[in-house]
Amino acid sequence: MGQKAPQYILEKLPPLREKVETIEILRQTNKAAAALAELKGIAKTIPNQAMLINAIVLQEAKDSSEIENIITTQDELYKALAINKSKISSETKEVVNYRKAIFYAYETAKQQGFLKVNDIIDIQQQLVDNIAGIRSTPGTVLKNDTTGEIVYTPPQDKAEIIELLSNFIKHYNETDNDLSPLINLAILHHQFESIHPFYDGNGRTGRILNIIYLILNDLIDVPILYLSSYIIENKPEYYRLLNQTNRTGKWEEWIIFMLKAIEFTSKDTIEKITKIKNQLDRTIQKVQIEAPKIYKKELVELLFEQPYSKIEFVVKKLKVERKAASRYLKELEKIGIIESQKVGRETLYINKGLIEILKQ
Ligand SMILES: Nc1ncnc2c1ncn2[C@@H]1O[C@H](COP(=O)(O)OP(=O)(O)O)[C@@H](O)[C@H]1O
Ligand SMILES: [Mg+2]
Repeated sequence: MGQKAPQYILEKLPPLREKVETIEILRQTNKAAAALAELKGIAKTIPNQAMLINAIVLQEAKDSSEIENIITTQDELYKALAINKSKISSETKEVVNYRKAIFYAYETAKQQGFLKVNDIIDIQQQLVDNIAGIRSTPGTVLKNDTTGEIVYTPPQDKAEIIELLSNFIKHYNETDNDLSPLINLAILHHQFESIHPFYDGNGRTGRILNIIYLILNDLIDVPILYLSSYIIENKPEYYRLLNQTNRTGKWEEWIIFMLKAIEFTSKDTIEKITKIKNQLDRTIQKVQIEAPKIYKKELVELLFEQPYSKIEFVVKKLKVERKAASRYLKELEKIGIIESQKVGRETLYINKGLIEILKQ
């Protein structure tokens, strides 16, 4: 009570060029761009893209939600995806929704070649699973997690929010800008979070907009680069810089933070992809040698597309009878490729080797 919420005027985009293109920023832009270009190249060498995307998108859904204190485990998530059961926690359900929202955004952007304000509303709707849409009742403020102090008051008036969003989306879709798209990404993410158009889900929606922006600008082909793991590790800094930029109008530190996030997560993802690819190759070899009679490339790939697999998945993918599918999975378990686990009435077959890599 009695707390005065600081209100800063949120300016429309773009900011002054000299504020966002300092020498330090340009230096860090080069590093981030190089790492991202390498990631783009390596991702192309993975023959089965679905395998890569599935694993990484789910991890991101989990991480991005974790930033907002929505916590679930990888095990629970994979089980929720493999089994249609009603008994999943609300957190897990929210992360599953987030995953859907990422795919929805990706498909929409690919189809249209741009995003509309209404697409952003649809994306947020899918992840929070309600239809409240853009804020129309005042009262939303951003507080410091630990002290409860109000640190930022976003625009309160619906008409103003909509005007700022139109300005945002215009800049979001401008792909022929001669400002580096990586610098622009940092600016756009800050602007979106500062508009804070929804009652909830702004952080997660904003982070989906980031990867889609990279795709729309041809910096990556598939949705596999996410900053959330970096943000989790540097969370106080993420909040401090969002806030500082609002207060001072100085962009440099924030932009450098985001560029570093791109550089580090690109490198991490390269490492992860390489490990996944090696694991896939090793698994193929092992099956070929130790269970040659059941070896099929699609069978092994399935275990990487669905690290928690089941008979039904094999039936569908290989178009074989249940009996054969069951035999394949048992055989693979015998040679140590997967481990079975009973969950209710279902038996799930877990690709432990892959799960280990994804956890790191
Ligand atoms: N001072 C600030 N200025 C602008 N945005 C901020 C500030 N502090 C936090 N944020 C953003 O707000 C997000 C949280 O908003 P919220 O609507 O709760 O998102 P979610 O539902 O995804 O949790 C954070 O992830 C961050 O991106
Ligand atoms: Mg929230």
